[in-house]
Amino acid sequence: MKLKQLIAESVKTVSRCYPEEEAREMVFAYLEYAFGTKKYTHIIEPDYEIPEGGVAQARQAFDRMASAEPLQYVTGEAYFYGRRFNVTPAVLIPRPETEILCQSVLSESGAGKGSKILDLCTGSGCIAWTLALELPGAEVAAVDISEDALGVASGQDFSEEISRTESHKPHFIKADVLAAPMAELGQFDVLTSNPPYVMESEKALMRRNVLEHEPELALFVTDEDPLIFYRAVASWAVGLLKPGGFGIVEINEALGAETAEVFAGAGMTDVKIVEDLAGKERFVAFRKKKND
Ligand SMILES: C[S@@+](CC[C@H](N)C(=O)[O-])C[C@H]1O[C@@H](n2cnc3c(N)ncnc32)[C@H](O)[C@@H]1O
Repeated sequence: MKLKQLIAESVKTVSRCYPEEEAREMVFAYLEYAFGTKKYTHIIEPDYEIPEGGVAQARQAFDRMASAEPLQYVTGEAYFYGRRFNVTPAVLIPRPETEILCQSVLSESGAGKGSKILDLCTGSGCIAWTLALELPGAEVAAVDISEDALGVASGQDFSEEISRTESHKPHFIKADVLAAPMAELGQFDVLTSNPPYVMESEKALMRRNVLEHEPELALFVTDEDPLIFYRAVASWAVGLLKPGGFGIVEINEALGAETAEVFAGAGMTDVKIVEDLAGKERFVAFRKKKND
C-alpha cells in the first residue's frame, strides 16, 4: 500500500476520536515511529510503499488510537527533556510542562556534582532520570507507591549515557508519600514532586484519552482535600531537606495561592509561584530556612 493512501485512511480512523488536525499529527508521529517516514515523505516520494506486514500493524495501532488510547501507550515511548522514556499504562505520560520543573532545578537550585536530590511520586522517573543525567555525579532517590510504576522507572535504559557521563542511576524506592518521611534516606539538597493534583470535579473537563487510559492513582485527589499531597511533601521537606535546600512542586493551576500557603505555613522561605509557558500557575518553588 502507498504511504499516501495509508495516511488518508488513518487520518479518517483517528478522527473518530480527535479533531482532524490533531489526528493528522498523531498519524505522522506514529508513521515516523513505525517506518521512519517524515511528514513530507509522501509529497516528495508519492510512490513510497509501506513495507509488507507494516500496513496491518499500523491499522491496529490506529484503531487503538481511535478508541482514545494515547499514542505514547501504543508506541510505548514518550520524549521528555530530549530523551526517550519507556511508558506503559502504569505510568503517567510525562508532560512537556514538567520539563520546566527540571529546568528550574538546574538553573536555580545551585545543585551540582555530589548534590543529593529526592523526587517524590516519580511515576516514569522522568524527573529523577533527567536530573541524574543532567547533573552527573548527583545522587537521586525517587519514591512512588506503585510497584508497576517503579518497574518502568527503574527499567529506563540510559546505561550508555550513564557510563559516558559518569552519572549515577537514580535509586527507586517503594513508599507512601502520605506516610511519615523516611529519615533513613538522609538529608537532601533538592526536593521535587509532581504529585496527583486533579480534583474529582475536574474530571468533566478531561478528555477520554486521559480519563480512560492514564492511571487514576497518578491523577486524582478528592475535592474535599485537594492539597493532601502538598502537605505531605511539605512534611518531607521539613524532615529531609538540608537547611538552605531547594524544593519545587508541580501544582493544580486553580490552587496556586493555597498550595504556596502550605509551604509557607510549613516554615519554608522564598516561596514563589512559577507559571508555565501558557501563563498558568503551574509550580511552587521554595527553600528551607538556613540555620540562624
Ligand atoms: C502525577 S503522577 C507524576 C509522575 C511523574 N513524576 C511525572 O511528572 O510524570 C503522580 C505519581 O504519584 C504516585 N503516587 C500516587 N499516590 C502516591 C502515594 N501515596 N505515595 C507515593 N506515590 C504516589 C503515582 O503512582 C504516580 O506515579
